Amino acid sequence: MTQTDLPEFPVTRGCPYRPPSGYQELREQGPVSRVRMFDGTPVWLVTGYDEVRSLLADPRLSSDRSHDNFPIFFPAQQAIQRARDSFAAVLIATDPPEHGRQRRMVIPSFAVRRIAALKPGIQRIVDSRIAAMREHGGPVDLVRTYALPIPSMVICELLGVPYADHEFFEEQARLRLDPEKGHEAIMKLYRYLDELVAHKEKSPGDGLLDDLIAEQLAEGKLDRREVVSFAVVLLIAGHDTTANVISLGTFALLENPAQLAALRADPSKIPDAVEELLRYVSLVSALPRVAVADIEVGGETIHAGDGLLIALAAANHSDEFVQRPAELDVDRADRHHVAFGYGVHQCLGQNLARAELEIAFGSLLAAFPDLRLAVPADEVEPRSGLVAGVVDLPVTW
Ligand code: HEM
Repeated sequence: MTQTDLPEFPVTRGCPYRPPSGYQELREQGPVSRVRMFDGTPVWLVTGYDEVRSLLADPRLSSDRSHDNFPIFFPAQQAIQRARDSFAAVLIATDPPEHGRQRRMVIPSFAVRRIAALKPGIQRIVDSRIAAMREHGGPVDLVRTYALPIPSMVICELLGVPYADHEFFEEQARLRLDPEKGHEAIMKLYRYLDELVAHKEKSPGDGLLDDLIAEQLAEGKLDRREVVSFAVVLLIAGHDTTANVISLGTFALLENPAQLAALRADPSKIPDAVEELLRYVSLVSALPRVAVADIEVGGETIHAGDGLLIALAAANHSDEFVQRPAELDVDRADRHHVAFGYGVHQCLGQNLARAELEIAFGSLLAAFPDLRLAVPADEVEPRSGLVAGVVDLPVTW
């Protein structure tokens, strides 16, 4: 097969809350296949559940974005790579041992006990959004009135970022994946957080960013650019993920009335339903990596320097992992999905995300027994890119 014969990497979702349909076709051909990126570059696409887990735990794969063959999804990303001198690679874009050193600085803030202590505050935020929905009356856009403000407010409080700036940073976070506006958006976010860090250096507050400044920056364990990069990564990852799972999960439940009814009848199922929705929606379709040594996997040899895409959404929807993968089933109670990734980079914020999702779904269903879409399902516009979402979700009750 020549390069141009390779199938194009499937990015577009037909249905916003289900993986790109192209994954299944490729998985049927084998757990590891070859695809080409938008610019023709060939990369490996890993779709088998076992192969996804073993590769994400394999130190022969790197997350270093500065590698020449690191997969790029749209042209603006090349500009972002070139501009990387103005900001530093942290956490998600680093490899061990540096990755572990950095991650240990923030792990305590996301530990189960710390997150448990945040739950009453999360509940208060959720209740205030429900009151706002009631006050407005249906129909409302669930994204802007509920799904987005909840994780945005929570991450602002945790980091010490002023929520008053939310429209600005939410907009830039959304645009960062836009082929035309992505570079400008990411640079605006860096500048904004650079100024915030400068302000906090002079007048400290009591958020996680203030702790990083006081403990890591002051002691020379992180430099200033790294602190700003931590802020960018945590602010984006902390809201533009959970928000999309709240809207896509609600959409999926509204489209599966029997599952929704089962959940309403027995709210103790909510924690299991959250895991199933994470699997079903598989928000992050695929993770990019580059091989730093030769690897034999799924009957193929991946060579050092080859780019890879680890298709979390394909693994979560494979028959090897669950029976009837295309069905939403809130009784599955299986927590071995890879929606939060796997291995050393497995989501730092997963305890926080679970707490937010459980409270957000539980309270929404309890508050609005007649919640329904206010437009036909096929009029709901999917967001483009590797992190799924919807532009808006009109609902009424
Ligand atoms: C339902 C919501 C979420 C989903 C589906 C999700 C998904 C993921 C995935 C797939 C990864 C792995 C990336 C990789 O291996 O390259 C990841 C990493 C990460 N996530 Fe999340 N995430 C969510 C919520 C959050 C929240 C609320 C935070 C809070 C700050 C967060 C912070 C991070 C960070 C910092 C990393 C990088 C960890 C590292 O490299 O060690 N995430 N997330």
